[in-house]
Amino acid sequence: MKKLVILISGRGSNMEAIVRACASQRWPASVAAVISNRPDAAGLTFATTHSIATVVVDHMQFDGRDAFNSALIRALDTYEPDLVVLAGFMRILTPAFVKRYSNRMMNVHPSLLPSFTGLNTHQRALDRGVTVHGATVHFVTAELDYGPIIAQGIVPVLSGDTADVLAARVLRLEHELYPRVIRWFIEDQLRVCNNRVELAVTKTRLLFRLDAI
Ligand code: GAR
Repeated sequence: MKKLVILISGRGSNMEAIVRACASQRWPASVAAVISNRPDAAGLTFATTHSIATVVVDHMQFDGRDAFNSALIRALDTYEPDLVVLAGFMRILTPAFVKRYSNRMMNVHPSLLPSFTGLNTHQRALDRGVTVHGATVHFVTAELDYGPIIAQGIVPVLSGDTADVLAARVLRLEHELYPRVIRWFIEDQLRVCNNRVELAVTKTRLLFRLDAI
């Protein structure tokens, strides 16, 4: 039985998708805790109502990134996670933090990496005039939005799209992609070799949702 700890900063819809998939697909895993760096994160309510332990490590209460990251490690290690899941967690992590959870911490990013790292990915995709956009699940390394790519999902960019419309389309894709990838981890199907991810099962690491309008 593997233990997951999910880190959020806000709405937590990806966390919700993961919790629901874990229960409905009967993963041999449990979500041991949801940790937020913001006391007002909406996702904490969902976790509490689903009897999942919640912890707030408020970054505002710490004097600098190192102190915050050390507190986060202490909170995380209480639950001895096999996998740390970043789900809309919007704080930069220190190299020491990233090293501690090397190859057992993943993130979902709302773009087709390596395009559009950082923030405002949907507006930047629209401004650049791309025809496809999407989401990437990757292992976390010290370089922001840069770790080994595990899987990607693609949606079309349609004429008339606003950043909000495109974000909603990508988010629906994230909710499908992220639980699928976490399940591969739980089933020991993922290997990292020379910074590239290999998947033991013959399943595609690419999810097309070209009809996701
Ligand atoms: C998601 O779109 C996720 O990809 C993004 O934040 C949103 C969180 O939504 N993450 C990042 O931008 C990380 N760089 P959620 O709280 O509803 O899951």
